[in-house]
Amino acid sequence: MNKRQIIKRTEEFVKKTMKGDPGHDWSHADRVRKLALYIGKKEKADLFVVELAALLHDVADYKFYGGDNKIGGQVATKWLKKFKLKSKIINEIEYIINEISFKGAKVKYNMKTIEGKVVQDADKLDALGAIGVARTFSFGGRFNIPLHIPGKKPTLHSSFEQYKKLSASTINHFYEKLLLLKDRMHTKTAKKLAKQRHKYMEEFLKQFYKEWRCKY
Ligand code: ADP
Ligand code: NI
Repeated sequence: MNKRQIIKRTEEFVKKTMKGDPGHDWSHADRVRKLALYIGKKEKADLFVVELAALLHDVADYKFYGGDNKIGGQVATKWLKKFKLKSKIINEIEYIINEISFKGAKVKYNMKTIEGKVVQDADKLDALGAIGVARTFSFGGRFNIPLHIPGKKPTLHSSFEQYKKLSASTINHFYEKLLLLKDRMHTKTAKKLAKQRHKYMEEFLKQFYKEWRCKY
């Protein structure tokens, strides 16, 4: 089977396997793939590894599997072993999936490979901007998190275990993660895109607080 056929088969597998909220569905995997290929070309990364890792990165997300953060890499590896791929490629993809998640405001990323940095940037770009706002409230709906609790301070988590306990409100999630992402992009291309999307979220928050007060 050639590379194109492996990608096609993987698309079908991801479409039928992902079971997150509407913010973690096939369309998220597809947007991350497109962003990752755009960034990866500029960074001269291995685009086959980038595309497969982007498609598979949330195939079994810990957030929907009782917090098990190894499950995604395991499901992806089991799938990729069906094809005659070098084990180096499979290991690289499993490594990316294991490292990709945001783990708390005070927890540094540990991604070592250029392919991983590209896919991590693409995933985090899809957490920003208008799509980022939509995805965050979709997640809040699924877990019944209040929109906003005035006076409730955000927590800057120093471990993944703490971060896994959900935010008190969806607005707090902006301060606990989303607004921190632009300064954590690895590549020049993603930094530029993140800056625009960040600005849009700041405007959204300004308007949100204005409407919340209902004072005219
Ligand atoms: P990561 O791999 O960094 O966890 P994902 O691509 O899986 O990133 O998506 C995470 C997205 O899910 C967030 O950007 C946000 O939109 C949503 N999300 C995750 N945790 C929360 C939360 N506690 N409150 C609201 N939204 C959340
Ligand atoms: Ni993702």
